Amino acid sequence: MTSRIPGFYKLSIPERIARIREIVALTDDEASLLAASFGALEQDRAGRMVENVVGVMGVPLGIAVNFLVNGRDYLVPMAIEEPSVIAAASNAARTMRDSGGLEAHYISALMIGQVQVVRLPDPIAARERILAERDTILAEANAADPILVGLGGGARDLEARLLAETPAGPMLVVHLLVDTKDAMGANAVNTMAERVTPTLERITGGQVRLRILSNLADRRVVQARVIIDETHLGTEEYAGADVAGRIVEAYALAAADPYRAATHNKGIMNGMDAVALATGNDWRALEAGAHAYAARDGRYRPLSTWTRDGAGHLVGTLEVPVVLGLVGGATRAHPMARLAVKILSVKTAAEFGEVVAAVGLAQNFAALKALSTEGIQRGHMALHARNVAISAGAVGEQVDKVAAQMVAERTINIARAKEILESANRQTGK
Ligand code: MEV
Repeated sequence: MTSRIPGFYKLSIPERIARIREIVALTDDEASLLAASFGALEQDRAGRMVENVVGVMGVPLGIAVNFLVNGRDYLVPMAIEEPSVIAAASNAARTMRDSGGLEAHYISALMIGQVQVVRLPDPIAARERILAERDTILAEANAADPILVGLGGGARDLEARLLAETPAGPMLVVHLLVDTKDAMGANAVNTMAERVTPTLERITGGQVRLRILSNLADRRVVQARVIIDETHLGTEEYAGADVAGRIVEAYALAAADPYRAATHNKGIMNGMDAVALATGNDWRALEAGAHAYAARDGRYRPLSTWTRDGAGHLVGTLEVPVVLGLVGGATRAHPMARLAVKILSVKTAAEFGEVVAAVGLAQNFAALKALSTEGIQRGHMALHARNVAISAGAVGEQVDKVAAQMVAERTINIARAKEILESANRQTGK
């Protein structure tokens, strides 16, 4: 299978569906689901997913092509309302595959479940007793999820952190470190955290309050890396080595300035969130984890780095918590999410997370390259003009014509779009 589909963006929607169908062997039903996906989440199903449902909010689903991650090709489903993101990811992945693609791997894959213990008669002694009873507490946590344990997952370790000074006095917070295998893990971790409550209260003489996972998932972190031959970075206006230098300067601003780091990281999350949303995953958890991790040493920093190795390569790295699942939640309940997972063709949550981090790094590269050379407005304006043309009532071929004229005139607004449309209609006698 290949993710390299030259001219994918030029095909019609039915043609694109046909190509994807061919590559990942979709069934007739699955291909029709894509074709009819603008009504794919039926009322009944939507009504069971959340409360007070009155409709379904559609977000475009696109496929980023060209991704080569750990030597494997991936077609990456992305759901996002923002123009340019999918094209930028595909273009970045194209440049990267010419240099051998991206690499990504989990440096550790454990979720953290937090249990808060308050009103402790002796917090220091309580901490010691928890550590001494580590095995009993872990066994109890594991008894809460025999299915996960049967699959080779489960609670692996625990930590007891003493918070000596809080607005409510000293307290302990116990961390259960859980391997949740192919699940995102929220249910497993929260259930385990609840299960160990009586034991923790008995051991410590305190009272348990909150029992919930931590979104600062610093034990479920992916490192992604790409090494790009600088000769592949040239554009019509800039030589490859110059572009590499510009990307490093762009990164340097993010490294030195949290105001820029926030935007830099937002660009990374554009890619990661879009895959999370397409596959029915909790993208807010991804966001919370990424930004908390970016600030883990007390200062908000960029999640990626860009350097030159002096031997003609631009080197990009990304380190980010990636908490995603292939089983459970909307990933299984939502037919489009299931189909998106099929298109992505990942077999484990680990492989999934690695691809998602790779998409984040590619997205970041695309943004830095555009920003440090021609700026992003040129590309954005063309797409923005199309949206304005559609809002003004343009249909079919009119959309591109009206948009092109507004871009050429550098005046993009609904009033101008309407004028152009009216004048075109007068000429054709409509
Ligand atoms: C826009 O959605 C994302 C960017 O602002 C990211 C960045 O500035 O690096 C282009």
